[in-house]
Amino acid sequence: MDFVQYDRPRQTRDIEIVIQQFADGSLKDGDEVKIRGAVHRIKDMGDFAFVIIRSPRRTFQCIWETEDAAQKLSPEDWVLVDGTIAADERSPLGFDIRISSVEKVGGPAEKLPLEISNDRKMKNLQLETLLDNRVVTLRNPRIRAIMRVADGVMYGFRQFLREEGFTEFVPPKMVMGGAEGGADMFMVKYFDQRAYLNQSPQQYKQAMVGVFEKVFTVGPVFRGENSNTPRHLTEFQGLDLEMGFIESFQDLMELETRMFQYIFRLLNTEYAAELDLVLGAGRRLPELDKVPQIKFADAKELYAQKSGKKITDPVDLAPEEEKWLGQYFLEEAGSPLVFVTHYPSVKRPFYAMDDPENPRYTLSYDLLLYGLEVTTGGQRIHDYDQQVAKMKKRHMNPADFENYLTMHKYGLPPHGGFGLGLERIVQKLLELDNIREASAFPRDRNRLVP
Ligand code: 4AD
Ligand code: MG
Repeated sequence: MDFVQYDRPRQTRDIEIVIQQFADGSLKDGDEVKIRGAVHRIKDMGDFAFVIIRSPRRTFQCIWETEDAAQKLSPEDWVLVDGTIAADERSPLGFDIRISSVEKVGGPAEKLPLEISNDRKMKNLQLETLLDNRVVTLRNPRIRAIMRVADGVMYGFRQFLREEGFTEFVPPKMVMGGAEGGADMFMVKYFDQRAYLNQSPQQYKQAMVGVFEKVFTVGPVFRGENSNTPRHLTEFQGLDLEMGFIESFQDLMELETRMFQYIFRLLNTEYAAELDLVLGAGRRLPELDKVPQIKFADAKELYAQKSGKKITDPVDLAPEEEKWLGQYFLEEAGSPLVFVTHYPSVKRPFYAMDDPENPRYTLSYDLLLYGLEVTTGGQRIHDYDQQVAKMKKRHMNPADFENYLTMHKYGLPPHGGFGLGLERIVQKLLELDNIREASAFPRDRNRLVP
């Protein structure tokens, strides 16, 4: 009988291990090393060549004493390299690798359409061109660093919530209807019925509060956004959580502040190399100390007063107003974050709990990050009769929401939660002009490929 030999020693050929061993002294000048990667760039110097190899998190220099290096290797060849350490203080790693032999194990069938190792050329390309060629442009060190930061935000979100006692769950993505209002949902043919792609895990995370009390989920959310803006995708990654036994929606903002602190610190330490590449050498995210909060109505008033403009829309914040508020609190409080609370009831979904002190407003909030909404959250109605009453007040037929109301019918604790858009967070933290840059394979009104 054959068995899987899962524990045989493996050759990693990992440059990170070589770097570690060089730093701790177990590898020295002249020692043999084996590494692997992609050929990023070749500089042919005549009787020798610099071969820049790309590994998952960096590029590093190898020296190859051979003629016609550029004939033997080309960019994007996948190689196994055997060589020796050539200690050199000028090298960012403290050493180069002197190549003894190269084995090519893969490579392009055709010359690449773009010079992905040339940052200057890459910067001058149109976003559309970069996105059309995403499979290869993602390999550019700066562009892939953006995606690594997205990994860091998801990692921080998960890690933080786990430490806070939350349980991760997976809601369905194909549903019969939506909780956020149906207009912008994608319809799919589901055998002989109609189904939709979920526009939010809202209903499911509320239901899971009744199971685990504190829950979160990370996954795609679909919105039929028909407009092309620099901050909307038709499919984005939702980071959603919901928690029971809250005393007020203030609990949610406190949790979210600590969550952002955690994520910023994680990025500043474990993702420092990526921040260097995207923001510039040595740039880090600010230490979050005090995060301001302001009521929606006061924010409107403040904007009108300071800008001298009239309040045109009393129930919603325009993008310019969000931008202005972000700038104001950055200057006045040194905070990239500001919570805008108590949104008007008419602009919030049926599940939002109204403020008992002034039911025209809700116990809900948006969080702005550098002037862009990245979160909507708030307390939900948990009482069955109260939820049915609010539906009726909105001329909704509770019978149509029987499915949604089951959890209320059988009882829920007071609860609330919030949802963040991953790409918007990455966009703002990395100062990207367009949200599409923060998605590996963005989907918008006009884009379904690659
Ligand atoms: O504000 P939204 O629509 O709120 C909800 O979905 C609620 N169920 C959340 C809750 O728990 N109350 O979406 C949440 C976040 C937004 O703040 C934004 O960051 C992001 O999702 N978002 C989008 N990101 C990219 N493209 C879009 N079209 C987005 N729509 C929302
Ligand atoms: Mg919102």
